Amino acid sequence: MGISLKGRDFLTLKDFTKEEIVYMIDLAARLKDMKKKGILTKDALAGKNVVLIFEKTSTRTRCSFEVAAHDLGMEVTYLDPAGSQIGKKESIADTARVLGRMYDGIEYRGFEQTIVEDLAKYADVPVWNGLTNEYHPTQMLADLLTIREQLGSLEGINLTYMGDARYNMGNSLMIACAKMGMNFTALAPKRYFPDEALIKQCEEYAKESGATLRFTEDVNEGSKNADVIYTDVWVSMGEPESVWAERIKDLTPYRVTMDVMKNAKDSAIFLHCLPSYHDHKTIIGKQVGEKFGMSELEVTDEVFESDYSRVFDEAENRMHTIKAMMAATMGAFENE
Ligand code: CP
Ligand code: NVA
Repeated sequence: MGISLKGRDFLTLKDFTKEEIVYMIDLAARLKDMKKKGILTKDALAGKNVVLIFEKTSTRTRCSFEVAAHDLGMEVTYLDPAGSQIGKKESIADTARVLGRMYDGIEYRGFEQTIVEDLAKYADVPVWNGLTNEYHPTQMLADLLTIREQLGSLEGINLTYMGDARYNMGNSLMIACAKMGMNFTALAPKRYFPDEALIKQCEEYAKESGATLRFTEDVNEGSKNADVIYTDVWVSMGEPESVWAERIKDLTPYRVTMDVMKNAKDSAIFLHCLPSYHDHKTIIGKQVGEKFGMSELEVTDEVFESDYSRVFDEAENRMHTIKAMMAATMGAFENE
């Protein structure tokens, strides 16, 4: 009996085995290849409908869900941060029971993980986490596919995450590495390390997969021998502007620079979930940069634009992997 993810929610990679994660990445690689060859998959889920709830803004995740759904033959409803009753006039439990009657799948991007868990509890259709404060699991599938494509394998890969490692990206990368047998390093000031309970849980996954987890404040030690250097914005969506000053003070020593990349393996790559403040070409990048006298924030423009950088391959893979994840949880391409 092969792997079937039909009917499953996709809330965090904690809920999936290594084999199930590999199944989704393999399916994504297959669907990517088919798309490149112009092979249509419109029959896969024709006649189905999905709803995308975004309480925070998005470019990649929203577009990936929309394009992927259309490629699979589905229709999409997009609910923007202000465009529904959710949370304000209707509880999550009631919303879930309404949308579950109309749609075949529900995506949610927003705040606490408990919200997407509640949606999943009360809706009888698959619920997909498009980013919460705690986790960003669809980003993980794209990152794993990108690393496998760029470096040839996942097992034994050394991934170093620089920056705020206690938020959605740091947490999710630690889980993904622990599940897949990769060596995870959080490179940040101690108070930006992931939560102790999550570390303990990941240490259990690591025992099974052969992964290692390391937490260090030493930039030289933490970036040495890395295959992948990864960073994210220092202030995430939903956090108050007032934290910028503190983050800049704490995290500037952990910016990804050419020195960091040169200290990693010769074959190392740079990844970032995006969007990124690597220059002054964004409103926030400009405002914060000018206020604090910085031309770039979490990564230098030089690294972002260098040959180390695979961020646009990574962004493209959001679509292929979200397509695979939706298809798998809706039962398409099983036993093929
Ligand atoms: N990486 C990511 O989730 O991008 P968006 O915020 O544009 O969806
Ligand atoms: N940590 C970032 C990730 C964006 C994709 C945020 O939550 O805003």
